[in-house]
Amino acid sequence: MTTDYKKVLITGVAGFVGSNLAKALLDNGVEVIGIDDFSHGFKRNIESLLANKKFQFIEADVRNENTFKGLNADVIVHLASQKIPRYSSALLVLDDNSLMTKNIVKKCINDKIKMVFASTSDIYGKNPKLPYSETSDMLLGPTTVKRWAYAISKIYSEQYLIANHEEFGLNYTIMRFFGSYGTNQNPTWWGGPQSVFIEKTYNDDFIELHGDGSQTRTFTYIDDTVQGVMKCIFHENSSNDIFNIAGDPDSEITIKDLAHLIWGLMRPGTEPKIKCIPYSTFGNYEDVQRRLPDINKIKSKLGYEPKWKLAEGLKQAIEWQTKLYK
Ligand SMILES: NC(=O)c1ccc[n+]([C@@H]2O[C@H](COP(=O)([O-])OP(=O)(O)OC[C@H]3O[C@@H](n4cnc5c(N)ncnc54)[C@H](O)[C@@H]3O)[C@@H](O)[C@H]2O)c1
Repeated sequence: MTTDYKKVLITGVAGFVGSNLAKALLDNGVEVIGIDDFSHGFKRNIESLLANKKFQFIEADVRNENTFKGLNADVIVHLASQKIPRYSSALLVLDDNSLMTKNIVKKCINDKIKMVFASTSDIYGKNPKLPYSETSDMLLGPTTVKRWAYAISKIYSEQYLIANHEEFGLNYTIMRFFGSYGTNQNPTWWGGPQSVFIEKTYNDDFIELHGDGSQTRTFTYIDDTVQGVMKCIFHENSSNDIFNIAGDPDSEITIKDLAHLIWGLMRPGTEPKIKCIPYSTFGNYEDVQRRLPDINKIKSKLGYEPKWKLAEGLKQAIEWQTKLYK
């Protein structure tokens, strides 16, 4: 049921998902070429991998097509991305994400190799019809709200991959991640709410909830995310298809309850310090009220099975992140 790819090129290898994926591939004897420009990645995430003879790290910019000259792999997993416009810029998100996708698509078509692309659950936007399956509609807000630039950049890339499959036979797999967390997560908002809540709780500071905290998310522990990515790389049924990669839908949780859970794990028996920040303070902003995945497709087609309960995964993330502060 699996293909025997021996060498995988990862863009964004010093980031959260990339570094965990590289480790899993190397642990399985697969050669890895990893590229990162450290714009949002960290040397510490890949330090332990550098001694491995099967790992080649290249510090370079994925926006530059020359980066890929002379590199040979069986698959490219394209993770490098600009993420949240609020913390960078909508223009950067739109420009960088489309340019990087175009470079990788071109390389994969030229070399006749597979492209595995990281998309996001954010593309489902505000669709009130839950849960989100791979064929669900995308319901985004107006273009004047810049948060949607991220989803739009990923939708553009998805369509670009599919169009290149139709016209030039590109072999692709699209992965739609739902909030992943764990070891090597970015310890700021770039890494998601759990990162910031851990930092605030560690410092005995106020956890700030956007709005009233009633919005929900379904989080995915990084080992489950990596399990999904491995299926999307190696499983022979993964080609030319789209898969949600998420934790157990039963673990959907409000952001307020997430704050309480993290506080309770780190400061048991004490009253959580929680402050609500009205959405109006973020300017022209829209949030997604509920985000619930349907993971039946990846379960039935690729044999994916999320294993981690939220509280157990959070314990691992807390242990890892608080070591950074000591
Ligand atoms: N982490 C999640 O929960 C999540 C959810 C949905 C989608 N995604 C997608 O998954 C992918 C990986 O996410 P992540 O959380 O690991 O992000 P991350 O920011 O931790 O990692 C991305 C890496 O790409 C690198 N990078 C960015 N631009 C680059 C460039 N021009 N050249 C070279 N390297 C560059 C950054 O330095 C960083 O190390 C992204 O495409 C993201 O949009 C992640």
